[in-house]
Amino acid sequence: MADVSRRDFIKVTTTIVGGVVAAGLGVPAIIYQLDPAFKAGAKEGWVPVGKVADMQIGTPYPFYFTRVQVNGWERTSTGHGGFALLQSEDPNDILVLNSRCTHLACTVNWDAEAQEYICPCHDAVFSKEGAVLSGPPPRPLDRYSEFRVTDGELEIFFKGS
Ligand code: FES
Repeated sequence: MADVSRRDFIKVTTTIVGGVVAAGLGVPAIIYQLDPAFKAGAKEGWVPVGKVADMQIGTPYPFYFTRVQVNGWERTSTGHGGFALLQSEDPNDILVLNSRCTHLACTVNWDAEAQEYICPCHDAVFSKEGAVLSGPPPRPLDRYSEFRVTDGELEIFFKGS
């Protein structure tokens, strides 16, 4: 068996201990740095948009909400909106329209006097129920077809943009 000098023994021991310490600190640090890259935020979900008690039959109730999308290190916040149109005394008898114009995605506004939605971008006009009355949009306003009323609160199921 070869003789190991005291100096060699210290070198080898120091190298081994240093390697273990570096691995103990380095591996968690690398995992911490990489972890967000493997995560994506949930896009879908139920979103509360308003109390049914605050809605009047036949009058569009505007709502607005934001969703934050997490994709790795990137966080993107987007705004969405629409109109809930209570159609009778039945709290489930609601038409829920998306306020994004079906032409080029501008936000339409409710004109209470004219009883129409107006798109400010290219002057499209939609009926109270979302049908195209004039202008370039190729189809009626989109609807949030999945919704529910929970404890008097209207919630829509948001599926992403
Ligand atoms: S974006 Fe609405 S009419 Fe063009």
